[in-house]
Amino acid sequence: MLKEKIAEIKTKSFAEIEKTASEQMLYDVKVKYLGRKGKLTEILKNLKNLDEKKRKTVGALANRIRMEIENAIAKHGREMSEKVDWEKEAIDVTLPGKKQELGHLNPITLVQRDIEKIFTSMGFEIADGPEVELERYNFDALNFPKDHPARDMQDTFWVKSKKESLVLRTHTSPVQIRYMEKHKPPLRIVAPGRVFRNEATDAKHEHTLHQFEALMVGDDISVGNFKYIAQQFFTIFFGKETQIRLRPSFFPFTEPSFEFDISCSICGGKGCRTCKQAGWIEIGGAGMVNQNVFAAAGYPKNKYQGFAWGFGLERLAMMKYKIDDIRWIESGDLRFIKQF
Ligand code: PHE
Repeated sequence: MLKEKIAEIKTKSFAEIEKTASEQMLYDVKVKYLGRKGKLTEILKNLKNLDEKKRKTVGALANRIRMEIENAIAKHGREMSEKVDWEKEAIDVTLPGKKQELGHLNPITLVQRDIEKIFTSMGFEIADGPEVELERYNFDALNFPKDHPARDMQDTFWVKSKKESLVLRTHTSPVQIRYMEKHKPPLRIVAPGRVFRNEATDAKHEHTLHQFEALMVGDDISVGNFKYIAQQFFTIFFGKETQIRLRPSFFPFTEPSFEFDISCSICGGKGCRTCKQAGWIEIGGAGMVNQNVFAAAGYPKNKYQGFAWGFGLERLAMMKYKIDDIRWIESGDLRFIKQF
């Protein structure tokens, strides 16, 4: 009876050992038969209850099978490890670890996010338009006369087109038209985005730039609204009380038009190297929306009033982060980008 049981343990355990495919599986088989509560261990433990003669024969048999199972396990283990390609599996623990590089945001992105946050907190909506723009939106609807020098080959990248004439937009102002065609006043929008100029590049000029357009239209919007909002914006942006100065200028799409300066964010207006002792820094253009622009967007003339302003993000990024050459921004140079 017991002998048959031992023989059965042998055949079953051998079959199971043969089927194992990992060290863990092999270990489990060992525990099952030879462990503290293992099937063969049980028999060995109970030998003491047998009479002497039986104890001797069964004991000898059980111990022999135990050895055989142990050997089979060891042998199978060796066979499994021989199949492993240790050259391939080996880990060189002396190699340096892999450093996880964190990405960096371009200063233009940082500035754009700052600006969007400040303007949305003042109730402005973010609007968008295409970078390849219709000549009609980039110039005509913005009241540029047909022969305006801005359309000249020197400034504008023209895009070959079989249908309507296309340009790489030279400013973000066409977003004004696109938005007004679809929305009625009162409205407040900001439109950040990429613009392109056919320029020879140097420390201050790039062919690919970023601009920011703001437009506010309603029944009684005035230059005063513009000045206040601009002053609030720059004060928050630079974290420093900032003054706004307007100088008369000309843009076809605004009337009257201004260039606007801000008090120097470095010296606060006293005069320093950054502002070339002027105390003021030129930032962008602004003005009251020309009624012809409202008309081009489908609004009745002389019903609404609004202001528009636009400025370059590169300028602000260069001031905020003290970048001395505009070409760094689009350079893709890691030594530059890793500083942000
Ligand atoms: N679009 C003008 C430029 O690129 C800037 C501007 C925007 C001026 C809005 C007035 C009003 O120079």
